[in-house]
Amino acid sequence: MQDIIISIQGGRPLAGSVVVSGAKNAALPELAAACLGPGVLEFSNVPLVEDVKVMFAALREIGAEGEIANPLGGDSQGHIIRVAMPVLRSPLVSQRIARTTRASVLLLGPMLARCGEARVSLPGGCPIGERKIDFHLQGLESMGAEIRFEGEYLAARCDRLQGIDFTFPGKTVTGTENLLMAATLAEGTTILRNCALEPEVEDLVVLLRAMGADIRMEGEDAYVIRGRTALHGAAHRVIPDRIEAGTYLIAGCFAGNEIRVEGVVPGHLGELLTVLAGMGASVSVSEHAFHARGGSMLHPAEVVTAPYPGFPTDLQAQLTTLLTQATGVSRVRETIFNDRFRHVDELKLMGADIDVRGDAAVIRGRTGLRGAGLRATDLRASAALVLGGLAAAGETRIANSYQLFRGYENMPEKLQKLGAAIAINRG
Ligand code: EPU
Repeated sequence: MQDIIISIQGGRPLAGSVVVSGAKNAALPELAAACLGPGVLEFSNVPLVEDVKVMFAALREIGAEGEIANPLGGDSQGHIIRVAMPVLRSPLVSQRIARTTRASVLLLGPMLARCGEARVSLPGGCPIGERKIDFHLQGLESMGAEIRFEGEYLAARCDRLQGIDFTFPGKTVTGTENLLMAATLAEGTTILRNCALEPEVEDLVVLLRAMGADIRMEGEDAYVIRGRTALHGAAHRVIPDRIEAGTYLIAGCFAGNEIRVEGVVPGHLGELLTVLAGMGASVSVSEHAFHARGGSMLHPAEVVTAPYPGFPTDLQAQLTTLLTQATGVSRVRETIFNDRFRHVDELKLMGADIDVRGDAAVIRGRTGLRGAGLRATDLRASAALVLGGLAAAGETRIANSYQLFRGYENMPEKLQKLGAAIAINRG
C-alpha cells in the first residue's frame, strides 16, 4: 500500500478557530445499528474518516443500500449518510474489511439479532495492546448464540436471542454497544450491568430509542432493554468528537498558540479540563467552545487513564506530548490498554526525555523538541506526533500517517487554517 507521509515545518504559532467533526466512535456503532431493521437511517454530522468508510463498506458487503452525501460540498465536514438494510443478504464480514478496523466486531450482535447468523473476521484496528472480545462473546452466548472460531473467522448462530441478566466482568465500550444492539431484538427483557458510560454509548442509546427500542437506564451503570420484534428507520445527528476536540484543545496549550475549538460538549471532557487547569494552562470554556492560549508556564501532572468519566486513554498520547513542555517530572499511567506507549520512542527521537516503566511513562520537562523522521504506530499516537511536530524546531516527517486519517477528519486542512505548515505526501 502507498505510504502517506505528513511533513510539518514546526515552530509556527497556531491561531484561530477550528470546528470539531462528528464522533468516529459514535458513528461506528450507529452505522452497525443499520443491521437491526429494514428502515432508512439518516445520519448527519458524520465524520468521513477511514474507519467510517470501512464500516460503510462492510454494511454494503452484507446487503445495505445507501449513500454518502456532503451538503456543503468538497471535503468539508458534516457528511450525511443514508443507509438501509432491506434484507441482510450475506452474514459474512470479510477479512478485507475487518482487518482494518476493530469496529467490525460491532456487527456481530446486530447481525445475530436480525438474522440468527454472523461470520466476522477477527477484528484488526490499532496495535495498542491486547484487545479481547471475550465479554462480547460471553454475553452473546448467554443470550443463546453458539460461537465458534473457524480459522480467521468467528462464526455465530442462534435462534431468536433471549433476554438475559448479564454483568460485564469489566468495562467495555464496544462490548456494551454490541450487547445493547443485540438486546433490542431479543425475546424478553435484558439487563446489562456494569456498562460503559462513554458519551458514544449514550449517543447509540439515543439512536436505538429513535428506532423504537425500549431502553432505560437503571442505577448508575445498568441498562434494561425490553426486546422488540422489529426496529424502524430514524434520523440522528452524531455527537461531536470529544477526542478530536481534546486534541485541538491540547494543541492550543503549546507555547505561542491561541485556539478556539468550536462545536464541543464541554461536559464530555471534564477530566481533561481538570488536568489542564492543574497544569496551569490557560483554558476557558463557553457553552459550545473551548479556548486555549499557550505560553503559561506549565506545571507537571500525574494522570491515570480510566473508563469514562475518567481521563480518556484516547487522549493519553497527545497529553504526553504536551507534558514534555511542562517544567518538572510528570507521570502518566495507562490502565486501559497494555501497550499504548508506542509514541514514546518516536517522541524521544524529537529529544523528549521519557521513560516507560511498566504501565507508566515518566516525562521530564521542559524539553525543546526538534524535528525528526518519525513513524505513526496507531491512530492517537499519530496525533501525538503531529502535535510534537507542530511544536518542534525544524521539519518533522511522519510515515504511516494513514493511521491519522482513520480517526481525524481533515486534520492537515484544519491545522493549515490555523496557520500550520503541514503537508501530505503520498509515496
Ligand atoms: N476487554 C476485555 N474483554 C472484552 C472487551 C474488552 O478484556 O471483551 C478489555 C480490553 O482488552 C481493554 C479494555 O477492556 O483492555 C477496554 O476495552 P474496550 O472494549 O472498552 O475498548 P474497545 O471497545 O475495543 C473503544 C474505542 C477505543 C477506545 C476504547 C476505550 C471504538 C470503536 N473504539 O474500544 O478507541 O480506546 O473504547 O475507551 O469505540 C480510538 O478511537 O483510538 C480507540 C482505540
